[in-house]
This record gives sequence, C-alpha cells and structure tokens, in this order.
Amino acid sequence: MTKILMVCLGNICRSPLAEGILKSKLPAEDFQVDSAGTASYHIGSAPDKRSVAVAKKHGLNISNLKGRQFEVSDFDTFDIIYVMDESNYQNVLKLARNEEDENKVKFILNEVYPNKNFDVPDPYYGGDEGFQNVYNMLDEACTKIAQDLTSS
Ligand code: 4NP
Repeated sequence: MTKILMVCLGNICRSPLAEGILKSKLPAEDFQVDSAGTASYHIGSAPDKRSVAVAKKHGLNISNLKGRQFEVSDFDTFDIIYVMDESNYQNVLKLARNEEDENKVKFILNEVYPNKNFDVPDPYYGGDEGFQNVYNMLDEACTKIAQDLTSS
C-alpha cells in the first residue's frame, strides 16, 4: 500500500481537492490518499463550498471530508507528502525529525514543472475562478502522479 498525503494551510480549499482528484485516479486497494493543513483553524470542518462545487462539477464528491492538522506522526504514516506552496513546505519541514522525513516532502507542481517549486495559489480570498484554476493545476499534477505510480 502506497500512502500519499496532500498538505495546504487550512485543509479546506486546495488539499481536499487534491485528495479527491488523486483518489479518483488511483486504485483504492493499492493506494491511500489523505489530506491535512499546517494550521489548526479548520479542524473538523468540511471543505470550502467552492472546492466542493468545483469538485462536483468534475464528478467528484469531497463534501464528506473533514479538516485536520498535519502532525509529526504523518511522517511515519505516509510515503509521499505533497505540499501546495512554499509556505506549506517550510511549515512541514520545520517538523521533520531527520533527512528521511525531509525527503518525503515534495511540491506537487514539481510533478509537472520539475524543480521549479511553483505554488498552487491559495484561492481562499478570491472568487470562483480561482478554484477552477486550482482544480486545473491539481488535475494536471495528479494525472502525472497517478501515471508515474501505476506504471512501475
Ligand atoms: P487552503 O486555503 O490552505 O487551500 O485550505 C485556506 C483556507 C483557509 C485559510 C487560509 C487558506 N484561512 O486563513 O482560514
């Protein structure tokens, strides 16, 4: 079983969408996909309505997900930890205990733009078009991730 964690700040906009998209592209019997936020603001909350809506538009139901905060034990549980932006990256790396932990942390858009460390922009304070833009970026990255993980 390969375990993949998607991480953003609040775990209500970007990472639940990334979780739903990647889950839809991988066989559940071989892959576990989860998401978490580096902040504690939205523990127990459902995803933002705008993330739920853009997911639904593309045939995915993420309405039952619940926000949780990233914790150190996630380094033990997960094989790959994808972050959405530079700030998530710094916040997760601060909790790494060793090089093995650090090596699990990757920028999700590096799957499409290797070594660029591009951000998936935080759509929280913007409009609906920001959520569609985030969906498109995550869909492209997750397509690549799923291809790579299932081709070996
Ligand atoms: P996310 O977006 O990190 O993609 O879930 C955010 C959600 C909430 C907040 C910030 C970003 N907030 O400040 O409450």
